[in-house]
Amino acid sequence: VALLNPFILSHPLVRPLYGFLKECNDSPLTKEVLDCGAGGKNPPLALFYEQGYRVYGIDMTRQQIELAQKFCVEAHTNLPMIQGDVRHIPFKDESMSFVYSVNTLCHLSKRDTATAMKEIERVLKKSGLCFINFVSVDDCGFGRGKEVSTGEFLQEEEWYSGIVKEGHICSYYGDSEPDPYFELFKILRKEKRITELLIEKSHPEGGGWQMADICYTAKKL
Ligand SMILES: C[S@@+](CC[C@H](N)C(=O)[O-])C[C@H]1O[C@@H](n2cnc3c(N)ncnc32)[C@H](O)[C@@H]1O
Repeated sequence: VALLNPFILSHPLVRPLYGFLKECNDSPLTKEVLDCGAGGKNPPLALFYEQGYRVYGIDMTRQQIELAQKFCVEAHTNLPMIQGDVRHIPFKDESMSFVYSVNTLCHLSKRDTATAMKEIERVLKKSGLCFINFVSVDDCGFGRGKEVSTGEFLQEEEWYSGIVKEGHICSYYGDSEPDPYFELFKILRKEKRITELLIEKSHPEGGGWQMADICYTAKKL
């Protein structure tokens, strides 16, 4: 299927998302995928939609869902998305072949992330696949704001593109720290990605920072 809109090529998770898509394509399970934290102006679900998957999205923030709906109108795409919290996923047990969550669990405390991971495990079918990324302690955001618990900072700034939420949590992880979230999974791939952005002309600060995350692809046992 031809790409309707190659926006995905500029998404920061593009390569890992294509990797996950390949894992899903290779799986014998039904082609259905849930994105937790699916909203925003460049919804990665479009990638799966274009590949013929039945797609579902949840997002906690109405404005983010509206941005995704705007994208759908412009791209003549249909990405069903409902308001929902990854800590209480509004889907039945073992109802999804594939679940992913990108650049989203970093906005949860580590305790809430454990709850979210249990929910992702609950809605996945046996042998279903998940893809999750966590922000590393090597990211330039680590240490910014007030540390309220180990690696959890209250940061008073833009939450994500255009939406400001005062005093929100950002969680940062050591290289092995997220492993226990995958107790009921087999980890198929774990990748730490460090990008040093020297110049970013479209950003007000112009660049000069390091982004680092830890990506997991895992299969439910
Ligand atoms: C940085 S944006 C990433 C959006 C999208 N995943 C992407 O990669 O373009 C984080 C998203 O997570 C959503 N979010 C934050 N906490 C959430 C929660 N507890 N449950 C569901 N969505 C949540 C936000 O509303 C926001 O749309």
